[in-house]
Amino acid sequence: MSAQALTTARLRIRAMESGDRELFLELYGDAETMRFIGRPAPRRENNARFRAALDAARKPRGPRFFTILKKRGRVPIGLCSIRRISVRESSAEVGIMLIRVARGRGYALESRRAFVDAAFQTLPIDTIWVQNHRSNTDIARLNAKLGFAETVHWRPRGARRDWRVLILSRWNWSAPSRPMAEHLPVEWFGGNISRRTR
Ligand SMILES: CC(C)(COP(=O)(O)OP(=O)(O)OC[C@H]1O[C@@H](n2cnc3c(N)ncnc32)[C@H](O)[C@@H]1OP(=O)(O)O)[C@@H](O)C(=O)NCCC(=O)NCCS
Repeated sequence: MSAQALTTARLRIRAMESGDRELFLELYGDAETMRFIGRPAPRRENNARFRAALDAARKPRGPRFFTILKKRGRVPIGLCSIRRISVRESSAEVGIMLIRVARGRGYALESRRAFVDAAFQTLPIDTIWVQNHRSNTDIARLNAKLGFAETVHWRPRGARRDWRVLILSRWNWSAPSRPMAEHLPVEWFGGNISRRTR
């Protein structure tokens, strides 16, 4: 597993690894965290999901999970993900979830901003999209702060029926003045993708 990581002022984001099992089980087993995502599953089921998530990351087109840690103490606080990276559709979907005690401190904003910046700087895509339950106001606020906007004209493959889909296009993205992802190889996000030809 690659030791490469994305860093921000307070956070470190690296590929999810086998030692992150407890974090994964906590997130996917917690009813409040899963409120707008799906049914919280029992430990045994989530153990299998965790193994499947690690396996998927080894496949060229599988979803890829990343662990968000506080730099101080290397405390894991959540997961973010990228999936459905499509060079043909020039797009990818991102997701995020934080453990309850880590919310309301701007960590989600800080990590999602860095993740989106790195994806645009690294991947040959022009659109990043998110999908959320219409009642999930926390994620709606976060997405709005980053400039994601609702789309009615484009429905990406894999979007759930009745969920809100928002997109951020490369043209509406505020690129950081200092490139921070230059050191990340394209494989960090997923195999079998060639870097954007500049
Ligand atoms: C969605 C989710 C990731 C958002 O996390 P969050 O902690 O609420 O988001 P933020 O990082 O933006 O922080 C929110 C608040 O922290 C405050 N904050 C405190 N310190 C801050 C700082 N240093 N910098 C920035 N904001 C700070 C902000 O003012 C913000 O409040 P506001 O939204 O009223 O403006 C979280 O609610 C979650 O994990 N939910 C469960 C899983 C889920 O539903 N995921 C989405 C699936 S589609």
